[in-house]
Amino acid sequence: MDTVHTLADLRTAVDHWKRQGHSIAFVPTMGNLHAGHFALIKAARSRADRVVASVFVNPTQFGEGEDFESYPRTLEADQRGLADHGCDLLYAPDVQDMYNTAAPRAAVHVPVVSDGLCGERRPGHFDGVATVVIKLINRVTPDCALFGEKDYQQLMVLRKMAADLDLATEIVGIPTVRESDGLAMSSRNQYLSPAERRVAGQLHAALERCALKIKQGEQVEKSIETERKKLSKSGFRVEYFELRRARDLAEISSPASESVLLVAAKLGSARLIDNMRFRHEGPSQN
Ligand code: PAJ
Repeated sequence: MDTVHTLADLRTAVDHWKRQGHSIAFVPTMGNLHAGHFALIKAARSRADRVVASVFVNPTQFGEGEDFESYPRTLEADQRGLADHGCDLLYAPDVQDMYNTAAPRAAVHVPVVSDGLCGERRPGHFDGVATVVIKLINRVTPDCALFGEKDYQQLMVLRKMAADLDLATEIVGIPTVRESDGLAMSSRNQYLSPAERRVAGQLHAALERCALKIKQGEQVEKSIETERKKLSKSGFRVEYFELRRARDLAEISSPASESVLLVAAKLGSARLIDNMRFRHEGPSQN
């Protein structure tokens, strides 16, 4: 696997493949790779002739007081992991290569779906994500780009961006990879102390119980309130715990035929997010 750090070198490699008629699948990341990222690489392998990954800790999607400076940067280990999982090319630009002008820049804002949930707690976050992803896609020009369902709102924002802006690249969602206790794998899990790590699996358990109760007909508000309280008792500071329509994150008060429960909570210094999609067989107004 080759690593390139500049747009010029990336273009040389990609143009070469395109001239040979190869299809390209792309996996954007911020590095510090784990099994969740590698599942995207594996899925990318099965979808195209060549796989390109990027590692770029994107400053514009971090808010003030967030962990941009301390975000784990482990490029050498990432290179080894990507090579082992069949990635063909790693693009690892620096901030200068990605944002090469100090003048005010164009940016992408995806309305409605970026509001609420993480968008409300992290103002500007999804503008930063959408803008860097469209820049990366314009640089790599892949046939498809793969994203984890773990960051469900991010996936919905990027799907809407692709639809609204007529992006030729297909946006593909890949199921969440979890630890054995259900905790969604995340680079931020390493911020958990051993004691916090032991309770972190509760987040997924809460989603499972809540989805089950709603499916069994319990009132949505009541099921969510019960799980919120349990999480607080275990030491989580819950930011949101909400039911939304799965296809577009529209607000709903009763389950849709495809719903998603989304949760964000702080545990110690770690901010964890997770979600669970489920089908509702009974009558629904959505
Ligand atoms: P990052 O957090 O590094 O995640 C890169 C990709 O891996 C995202 O699509 C994310 O949803 C996926 N991913 C992370 N953990 C996962 C898990 N446990 N199971 C399945 N997929 C998982 O998300 C970003 O970076 C950035 O916002 C980015 C899209 C690269 C833009 O900067």
